[in-house]
Amino acid sequence: MEKKSRRILVVGALLLAIWALSVNADDSEKTIVKTVKGKKMCTRGWECKDWSIYCCNQTISDFFQTYQFENLFSKRNSPVAHAVGFWDYQSFIMASALFQPLGFGTTGGKLMQMKEIAAFFGHVGSKTTCGYGVATGGPLAWGLCYNKEMSPSQSYCDDFYKYTYPCSPGAEYYGRGALPIYWNYNYGAIGEGIKADLLNHPEYIEQNATLAFQAAIWRWMTPIKKSQPSAHDAFVGNWKPTKNDTLAKRVPGFGATMNILYGDLVCGQGDIDAMNNIISHYQYYLDLMGVGREEAGPHDVLTCAEQIPFNPSNSNPTASS
Ligand SMILES: *[C@@H]1O[C@H](CO)[C@@H](O)[C@H](O)[C@H]1NC(C)=O
Ligand SMILES: *[C@@H]1O[C@H](CO)[C@@H](O)[C@H](O)[C@H]1NC(C)=O
Ligand SMILES: *[C@@H]1O[C@H](CO)[C@@H](O)[C@H](O)[C@H]1NC(C)=O
Repeated sequence: MEKKSRRILVVGALLLAIWALSVNADDSEKTIVKTVKGKKMCTRGWECKDWSIYCCNQTISDFFQTYQFENLFSKRNSPVAHAVGFWDYQSFIMASALFQPLGFGTTGGKLMQMKEIAAFFGHVGSKTTCGYGVATGGPLAWGLCYNKEMSPSQSYCDDFYKYTYPCSPGAEYYGRGALPIYWNYNYGAIGEGIKADLLNHPEYIEQNATLAFQAAIWRWMTPIKKSQPSAHDAFVGNWKPTKNDTLAKRVPGFGATMNILYGDLVCGQGDIDAMNNIISHYQYYLDLMGVGREEAGPHDVLTCAEQIPFNPSNSNPTASS
């Protein structure tokens, strides 16, 4: 008896040592710091591997882990979903690594970092949901149900761009991805952004979740027009509104991200369902991440009901649909 319990103790100690070793192996994620012209710059493992001021902060996987992704998108692999097995946490984190050194999910301290992930997913969830009023788990539990448009009515080839983004023979530019991409010119521009030949191979987006998330984060991080803020800049507070913006009731926050991404399809129309559905997803994710929806801030920051669109849809075909 004595001997046996001692053996268990030894085995236990050994297991503990192995566990401690494997925890130590995570030190690849340790922050390395240097100072460049008085500015603190860091790298932090594979997830934030360019020298950047943003890599001095926590990385996304420090505060957003697999179980949280599973909570947010709990119904995506249920049998009635339309992209079963496609979307996963690993693809999201891999894709985010391209953008964390630029500030995606790494700006402004932990609360802002968590809010940005919830906001980004608020858009993603509302654009990829198949949830409806009486769906099990509630309508908000069905984000990432799709990875493509199911019955496209056309191939979304706009001949106006035949010199810049010519449609590839046989390619179909219907909606695909986490923030669905439509039209040849959007596939072309986003493909340039993430260095993938999406103009000739739009199908990559429905075949590779990492690429699909990369495309969505690129859209979030990149202004539609050079003179305008990206959704990221508008959300984290990098963007300082001009006098015109103030007159147009455009203020930094979640509302402005909807204005940037969807313009008058969602904003400046009063209290419409299309807008409230996106906001509801954002609030739901804030709750599930333990941040709490009250952190979303006051109504005029959260909505875009009264905002004049940055880009009216009839004069700007590159506005995301
Ligand atoms: C990093 O986080 C701190 C708070 O922990 C914040 O004050 C700072 O602005 C963040 N750095 C960047 C570059 O956003
Ligand atoms: C998916 O895309 C990523 C990013 O470009 C790439 O690293 C990866 O190899 C691709 N996966 C497959 C299975 O092709
Ligand atoms: C402000 O708005 C006016 C009127 O719409 C426009 O003519 C002007 O160019 C705008 N200014 C800037 C800096 O965008």
